[in-house]
Amino acid sequence: MYSEKVMDHFQNPRNMGEIEDASGVGTVGNAKCGDIMRIFLDIDEDGIIREARFKTFGCGAAVATSSMATELVKGKTVQEALQVTNKAVMEALDGLPPAKVHCSLLAEEAIHAALWDYAQKQGIAIQGLEKPKADIHDEDSE
Ligand code: FES
Repeated sequence: MYSEKVMDHFQNPRNMGEIEDASGVGTVGNAKCGDIMRIFLDIDEDGIIREARFKTFGCGAAVATSSMATELVKGKTVQEALQVTNKAVMEALDGLPPAKVHCSLLAEEAIHAALWDYAQKQGIAIQGLEKPKADIHDEDSE
C-alpha cells in the first residue's frame, strides 16, 4: 500500500532533528489524528534555504513527508519553497494512500508556517504567503 520511496523515507528519514537559532520554525498539527510536525529552516542573506530539519510526532507517512519536504526545500529560494505543495511532496514520494493525504498537507503547512516565522523575524513580506491558519498552541487550548 505504500510506495518504496515512502517506506525508504520512513525507515531512513533525512534531515531529522533541530536547527539551533533557525531562521524560521513552523509547528503545525492535525486535530483529528493528533499528529504534530515542526520544521526548522536556515535561510541565508540571499533568501536561500541552506538547511532544513524536522521533528515529527506522528504516523509513518507524516515522517516520510517531513523527510521528503525538507529534502525538496533545501537549496531553494523562499519563493521556490512556496511551490513545494503537498501535491509536490506526494509526487516525489510516488503517491500516498487517500487516507494519508492529510499527512502530506501537514508538511506543506509546516513549511509555510516556518517561512511565515522567518518573514516575521526579518520584518518582510513574502509574496503569496498567507498567515498560517492555526497555530498549534491555539489548537491545544480549544
Ligand atoms: Fe495524521 Fe498521518 S495520520 S499525520
